[in-house]
Amino acid sequence: MKTVFAHRGMSSLAPENTLAAFKQCAEHGVKWLECDVDILADDTVVISHDDTLDRCTNKSGSLYDLTINDLDTIDAGSWFGDEFKGEPIPTYDQFIDVVNEYKLNVNIEIKSCAAGWEKTLILLDKVIAGIRRLDSDREVIVSSFNHVALYEFKKRCPDVPTACLFVAENLWDDWESLLQACGADYIHPEDKGLTQEMVQKFKQKGYKVNVYTVNCLKRANQLFNWGVDGVCTDIAQNFPSSRLNAQ
Ligand code: G3P
Ligand code: MG
Repeated sequence: MKTVFAHRGMSSLAPENTLAAFKQCAEHGVKWLECDVDILADDTVVISHDDTLDRCTNKSGSLYDLTINDLDTIDAGSWFGDEFKGEPIPTYDQFIDVVNEYKLNVNIEIKSCAAGWEKTLILLDKVIAGIRRLDSDREVIVSSFNHVALYEFKKRCPDVPTACLFVAENLWDDWESLLQACGADYIHPEDKGLTQEMVQKFKQKGYKVNVYTVNCLKRANQLFNWGVDGVCTDIAQNFPSSRLNAQ
């Protein structure tokens, strides 16, 4: 089974990490999406890659200073296109409802929460509560660059598959020790510098491999031919339907 993950939803067709970007997955026959989760000052969990508003909304400032009431005043869509004016930063609860309604599968990336460890633990508990609300036929992977948080997640939720994320610069020979410590099922390496030998090593050790962020169909094909299980991409709409539906 090969998987194509829509990175932050259909992020080249709609503003990243919005409900509009997630709903478009279904329109394009994309079954899996990736999203990023973080937590506000009042412990509302939201979908956002950055912990500041500056890059993808009409406001600036820290996510950690906001409460749920602020979300109505923030436009996370008009920077991308007029038709997305007023698109909000979604709450995680709204996201879970959309995932159920549109029958999507999800790779939930827990952001390395810069608001502190106490908030990180609340974030983990809320992520788990949302996963428990998913319909039984939905599939889920939880991933993080923060392997300590991922370890804590697995302790609290052993039945959900997890993935250790690595940027190329942090992918050293201790990768397997880290996956073992976390009880992780997947390795999610960055595409940059990834070689066939590395992929073979991951696979020989029995891990599933999803590579990010792959925005070139030829490279995706090469990775799949090396035995990679999935790729995370901003251009899921360009992948042939045979690839989206491959077993
Ligand atoms: O999960 C793959 C990818 O999303 C990790 O990097 O920075 O896009 O969240 P980033
Ligand atoms: Mg991500």
